[in-house]
Amino acid sequence: MNDILNLLKTRRSIRKYKDLPVEEEKIEKCLEAARWAPSASNKQPWEFLIVTDKQVRRKLSEIHPYARFVAESPVVFVPLTNPEVHAKYHMSDSALATLQYMIEAHSLGLGTCWAGVIDSSIEPEIKDLLGVPEHLNILGLVATGYPDEEPTKTRKELDTQVHYEKY
Ligand SMILES: Cc1cc2nc3c(=O)[nH]c(=O)nc-3n(C[C@H](O)[C@H](O)[C@H](O)COP(=O)(O)O)c2cc1C
Repeated sequence: MNDILNLLKTRRSIRKYKDLPVEEEKIEKCLEAARWAPSASNKQPWEFLIVTDKQVRRKLSEIHPYARFVAESPVVFVPLTNPEVHAKYHMSDSALATLQYMIEAHSLGLGTCWAGVIDSSIEPEIKDLLGVPEHLNILGLVATGYPDEEPTKTRKELDTQVHYEKY
């Protein structure tokens, strides 16, 4: 197995975090990985917000019904999408940037978990809390920190998902 495939296969969503700060340089590397994602016409229809404030993280964990762990992770990466920059691909491009952030984080020994926000009923409240301008969307909340669990996950078998030449 080559290194990238190993990295992709060993990344897991982490929902329990150690009470340890994350080095700023590591977050900068993750952001750097995110900004090098491919995007339609290289429009890069994203912006990124980093939240570390404990009270704000706690509030986020109260608003999001499936992201209690953002109160515990020292960092929350918030990918924002800009439909004014690319109306059709703002979401998929920003998802690629988010995944690159997550993979880089994993390579640095950090855990992440993406909790979806975009187009949900809680998006306006989270936008308000974080002061995100009206024209941007919140793709999700990505908890980031040192893992305090080692979850396992499986995947569907490849032969149930792949077709060659014709469906
Ligand atoms: C768009 C998106 C939204 C997700 N939302 C949540 C969420 O709200 N809460 C949560 O605990 N996990 C969430 N997840 C994580 C998935 O549950 C997880 O990726 C999946 O179960 C596979 O596990 P793995 O990431 O460990 O391989 C989300 C993942 C994606 C890509």
